[in-house]
Amino acid sequence: MVMASWKKLVLLLLIFLCTCKAQEEQSSTPVYLYHNCSGGNTTANSAYQLNLRTLLTSLSSNATTTEFSNNTVGLGTSPSDRVYGLFMCRGDVPSALCQQCVVNATGRLRSQCSLAKQAVIWYDECTVRYSNRSFFSTVDTRPRVGLLNTANISNQDSFMRLLFQTINRTADEAANFSVGLKKYAVNQANISGFQSLYCLAQCTPDLSQENCRSCLSGVIGDLPWCCQGKQGGRVLYPSCNVRYELYPFYRVTASPPSSSPSPPTLLPPPTSPISPGSSGISAGTIVAIVVPITVAVLIFIVGICFLSRRARKKQQGSVKEGKTAYDIPTVDSLQFDFSTIEAATNKFSADNKLGEGGFGEVYKGTLSSGQVVAVKRLSKSSGQGGEEFKNEVVVVAKLQHRNLVRLLGFCLQGEEKILVYEYVPNKSLDYILFGRTIFLNSVSTLHACFDFYFFCFQFLPCWPVQYIHNNRQSTTIQEAMRKN
Ligand SMILES: *[C@@H]1O[C@H](CO)[C@@H](O)[C@H](O)[C@H]1NC(C)=O
Ligand SMILES: *[C@@H]1O[C@H](CO)[C@@H](O)[C@H](O)[C@H]1NC(C)=O
Ligand SMILES: *[C@@H]1O[C@H](CO)[C@@H](O)[C@H](O)[C@H]1NC(C)=O
Ligand SMILES: *[C@@H]1O[C@H](CO)[C@@H](O)[C@H](O)[C@H]1NC(C)=O
Ligand SMILES: *[C@@H]1O[C@H](CO)[C@@H](O)[C@H](O)[C@H]1NC(C)=O
Ligand SMILES: *[C@@H]1O[C@H](CO)[C@@H](O)[C@H](O)[C@H]1NC(C)=O
Ligand SMILES: *[C@@H]1O[C@H](CO)[C@@H](O)[C@H](O)[C@H]1NC(C)=O
Ligand SMILES: *[C@@H]1O[C@H](CO)[C@@H](O)[C@H](O)[C@H]1NC(C)=O
Ligand SMILES: *[C@@H]1O[C@H](CO)[C@@H](O)[C@H](O)[C@H]1NC(C)=O
Ligand SMILES: *[C@@H]1O[C@H](CO)[C@@H](O)[C@H](O)[C@H]1NC(C)=O
Repeated sequence: MVMASWKKLVLLLLIFLCTCKAQEEQSSTPVYLYHNCSGGNTTANSAYQLNLRTLLTSLSSNATTTEFSNNTVGLGTSPSDRVYGLFMCRGDVPSALCQQCVVNATGRLRSQCSLAKQAVIWYDECTVRYSNRSFFSTVDTRPRVGLLNTANISNQDSFMRLLFQTINRTADEAANFSVGLKKYAVNQANISGFQSLYCLAQCTPDLSQENCRSCLSGVIGDLPWCCQGKQGGRVLYPSCNVRYELYPFYRVTASPPSSSPSPPTLLPPPTSPISPGSSGISAGTIVAIVVPITVAVLIFIVGICFLSRRARKKQQGSVKEGKTAYDIPTVDSLQFDFSTIEAATNKFSADNKLGEGGFGEVYKGTLSSGQVVAVKRLSKSSGQGGEEFKNEVVVVAKLQHRNLVRLLGFCLQGEEKILVYEYVPNKSLDYILFGRTIFLNSVSTLHACFDFYFFCFQFLPCWPVQYIHNNRQSTTIQEAMRKN
């Protein structure tokens, strides 16, 4: 009993570390999207160029205190040498990241648009632009960029209808703030029981309500141009932008979307249904075991977070290799036919049996594509409803990280509940964490991986996995203003 609890707790911590690290990776690196230099060249060391350098420096230093700032440099010089500039961070971005983004963006402008009179650069987290023309309080719709998520949507017509409804509402809300205030709004809408649409709209705060709305109408009107039939997309203008995806790509601030009665602690209830047969221990004993463990684990988590943050600070810049392109899991893409599974495992033949995990039997299988998978047939007594099972599979499938075994999909047919994982060769479970390898000999081999996931599955449906997918870079630049 105690051993079992410890095993689960260790696994829980590993999941925590992996997701924690993935989030940190994500949150600490501004993601560059596109830039455009235009307006003709100036000459090196001209008055304009000197003013421009001053402007970029002041913008990046202003980013320490605000999320938006506009500035004019050269008011004392000839009007043709004046430079106007601004930056804006996405409404949900914490100030440290905002600053990093603006610093990186101005650095890039300095090196890549060094002689251009006008430029705009877009990141996931911020927009920076400058011009020789005073553009404050005016709507600029060019240059524009469309980026799309390459995954297709299945039910196009109804999806696009829902998209326009939701995004128009979001635009109304974003535009509805007075001048000078952050003009940013996000919205979420149900597509089906277990898929949601996430929308974002933002204008630069110098725009009036009407100008902001008209700019947003422009970007929204460009969505079909950019992203018709796609699962995600964005259109970026210098003055405003919109984005939609099937996963939360922004930080949910303040009041989370109600419902989900999430428990206040990270820890599972002490009497876990994992071992329903192991009763006979008094409540006092359970408390005596659980309380110290809880305390120890909390201390451990805090300690690890502290250490990992320090470790990360030391090796900043080298964290980018975690970026991989994965597809967004959707329920459709995750579902396997029972017949496919039967064929892959040769009807669950004893030869293919790898062993018995905590929640059922595990088989090795080969899909018709040749991919080797591990198939876990859950014991029928798991007691979970079908919908609940599906929901949780989608959550777990999002938990993809290079340190974790991947969940490829599931099968739900009648009484059968099956999980399909990527196959991990039968060696000891070694996770590379922060440059150190942790060997978990006590939790032998493959089963640990499964319990690992399944544990998360059973007890942490509200695990904060939202941002992991931002690591993905499966968006491609479609076209940058051809019809000008
Ligand atoms: C401006 O300068 C860049 C590189 O310095 C050059 O590639 C580009 O052709 C120039 N554009 C004009 C209009 O002179
Ligand atoms: C931004 O920087 C400029 C010059 O460095 C300064 O005059 C201005 O007050 C700053 N604005 C904010 C909001 O910090
Ligand atoms: C910032 O923009 C406003 C108009 O939105 C303008 O009145 C103000 O002068 C600008 N500030 C600077 C420092 O350029
Ligand atoms: C901006 O960030 C990228 C990667 O995060 C880095 O390679 C680049 O050197 C940074 N540039 C500046 C000017 O900070
Ligand atoms: C900005 O620069 C462009 C290109 O040199 C020039 O045609 C335009 O007149 C300038 N605008 C202002 C307001 O100086
Ligand atoms: C940059 O923007 C200008 C003005 O909108 C446009 O004419 C030009 O084609 C753009 N260049 C690139 C490389 O996108
Ligand atoms: C999306 O659909 C188009 C045709 O409509 C097809 O060419 C493309 O391969 C599909 N992309 C994906 C990722 O399924
Ligand atoms: C805009 O704000 C006003 C109050 O400032 C409010 O009455 C109205 O409902 C808001 N509209 C939207 C679409 O949020
Ligand atoms: C979305 O669906 C869930 C359950 O299916 C429901 O609880 C929630 O209120 C819905 N949200 C919206 C915005 O309709
Ligand atoms: C949303 O706005 C766009 C452009 O602003 C408009 O064409 C479309 O009809 C609107 N759709 C809905 C459902 O309001």
